[in-house]
Amino acid sequence: MKLSKVLLFIVALTTILSVIGCGAAAPAAPAEAPKEEAKAEAQPASSDKKTYEDLVVGYAQIGAESEWRTANTASIKEEAEKLGVELKFSDAQQKQENQIKAIRSFIAQQVDVIGVSPVVETGWETVFQEAKDAGIPVILVDRRAAVPEDLYATYLGSDFVEEGRRAGEAMDKVLEGKGKIVELVGTVGSAPANDRAKGFREYIADKPDMEIIASQSGDFTRAKGKEVMEAFLKSYGKDINALYAHNDDMAIGAIQAIEEYGLKPGEDIKIVSVDAVRGAFEAMIAGKLNCTVECNPLLGPQFYELALKVVNGEEVAKWVPSEEGVYYPEEAEALLPERKY
Ligand code: AHR
Repeated sequence: MKLSKVLLFIVALTTILSVIGCGAAAPAAPAEAPKEEAKAEAQPASSDKKTYEDLVVGYAQIGAESEWRTANTASIKEEAEKLGVELKFSDAQQKQENQIKAIRSFIAQQVDVIGVSPVVETGWETVFQEAKDAGIPVILVDRRAAVPEDLYATYLGSDFVEEGRRAGEAMDKVLEGKGKIVELVGTVGSAPANDRAKGFREYIADKPDMEIIASQSGDFTRAKGKEVMEAFLKSYGKDINALYAHNDDMAIGAIQAIEEYGLKPGEDIKIVSVDAVRGAFEAMIAGKLNCTVECNPLLGPQFYELALKVVNGEEVAKWVPSEEGVYYPEEAEALLPERKY
């Protein structure tokens, strides 16, 4: 009896000691551990969100064909530097095959997002699909591409048809509803050339005395604009009452051709163009251009804002339009100092 009491006491004591001994550490560990794990799991979800400094962007630019494009490139480059974005920039010298090569190289380098201003509207499905398969979103900047909507994240840029309509309205004003017009078209097959032609025609459709007598591409450059205007003057001479140029650079080239032909641009031949670059304001001040319809090239800030949202899986609109105005010579002098491009 005595021995069993002793044994019972020893068992009870061991149990109490083991409970007291573990109470300080053992029960706490398993209870705390899941909380730490839960925290560790929650953190990556928020820190997974990229910042501008994390962002690697590939940008397939068209080229340097116009004052507008130079301003557009500067905006894309300067904003990247300002935000700390790593930018891989490619100039395609106005060739679609070079833009496609650039996009493929961005895919191989596994950039986070690709920005592209498609030189022409068609022929992009294959390479955009390759980007999609690699999980890299594509943002269309400045120009649209004729591809299914699931092949790009968003389009940031102008309403070129509306620009064409505005140019038609301006032409109606400066010609007072009557005249023979020659048209300098942008790059063949490009969205702005297609749409600016369309919008202009839409506007003049019910103006029977406004007639387009010739239409040819000047590829958005000054040199080509001058060359084609020389050809127009050779064929139609003084029959030409007005010129509609799809961009200011072609209009500026044409102004030179008109002067060399011995006519006064802005008077003998009225001129309406698109872009509203500084050169156009200077031409309006000199009385050689009658109106310029704005197309905003300063897309850098909006582009990176969209790029970051898209990469972080945030929702963005399928089209983010840029705000634009229409300018006449009366206001050119006052506005020129404020023009940023
Ligand atoms: O896509 C925008 C057009 O491209 C501009 O009007 C023209 O100047 C540029 O080259």
